[in-house]
Amino acid sequence: MTKEMNTPPVCDYEGSDYQDKFWKEGGRAYEDGAEVLALKRLLPTGGSHLLELGAGAGRNTPRYRGFERVTLLDYSTTQLQQAIQYLGTDPRYRFVAADVYRLPFAPRAFDSATMIRTLHHLSEPNIAIAQLRECLADNAVFILEFANKRNIKSILRYWMGKQDWSPFTPEQVEFVKLNFDFHPKSVRAMLAGNGFKLEQEISVSFLRAGFFKRLLPLKLMLAKENFLQHTLSWAAISPSIFLRSTTVPQGEEALGMQTEAFFRCPACGHYPLADTPPELKCGQCGQTYTFKDGIYDFRLK
Ligand SMILES: C[S@@+](CC[C@H](N)C(=O)[O-])C[C@H]1O[C@@H](n2cnc3c(N)ncnc32)[C@H](O)[C@@H]1O
Ligand SMILES: [Zn+2]
Repeated sequence: MTKEMNTPPVCDYEGSDYQDKFWKEGGRAYEDGAEVLALKRLLPTGGSHLLELGAGAGRNTPRYRGFERVTLLDYSTTQLQQAIQYLGTDPRYRFVAADVYRLPFAPRAFDSATMIRTLHHLSEPNIAIAQLRECLADNAVFILEFANKRNIKSILRYWMGKQDWSPFTPEQVEFVKLNFDFHPKSVRAMLAGNGFKLEQEISVSFLRAGFFKRLLPLKLMLAKENFLQHTLSWAAISPSIFLRSTTVPQGEEALGMQTEAFFRCPACGHYPLADTPPELKCGQCGQTYTFKDGIYDFRLK
């Protein structure tokens, strides 16, 4: 399902059983464990407020232990409902339905952010990353995962003539509608162009193949994965790559001052919003946004 408006189309997970089908029944304990290893190495030990972009059903959220607050943002309310069920009503968590192309947060609202398994649904990733920069404080940490088009499998397939697109060219490749693989150089350039300084890069999921999963016990696969993450990340040839970057300090004119306000209107950019339960109202353009069953809904109709 996609949604067309003056922002790029959204790969909509509304009503999807992704969490059960892909993770629980899909035999992906290895991929999940490989991400735990990467996050352990990249996450700061703590922080005040982390924004999780494309949080889905909150699979990674319990891993953000050191943070005082975590805001889970996803376009799908059914994914967020699953996240609420999974995480419980811990006041540390806030659940926001919104589009990553139109973030509803005031300038410098967060000191950290993650985006895992979500960039690969974005046809215009640069717009989302620019939006993110605006709502991050200076020197904030951002951990970004992306699907790597220059992975060893696609290189071999290309050389054997089984794949028509080149893994070496910088443009993103849409292998299924609204599913994109990116070239590592292009992702690094996009971060730099939006005021992020790259600090560390880890290649992840080296052994993602049915063959290895059938042959090796999970514990051994994860031991090998850990070794490969430490020794082979420089080559950037795994299917998934995690980048840790920090925001380069920006002047007041560029981003605005830190403010008491947390939400901003995604339609016109105004903040603060008037808190008139059960909704928030924008004093500038008049748009209203509901808060229902624990979820703020900032999707533009
Ligand atoms: C593959 S799932 C990953 C979920 C979670 N990060 C994980 O790793 O388990 C991708 C998520 O991105 C969300 N998403 C896709 N496009 C989005 C957009 N434009 N704005 C907000 N969320 C989006 C989907 O609703 C979905 O929950
Ligand atoms: Zn407005």
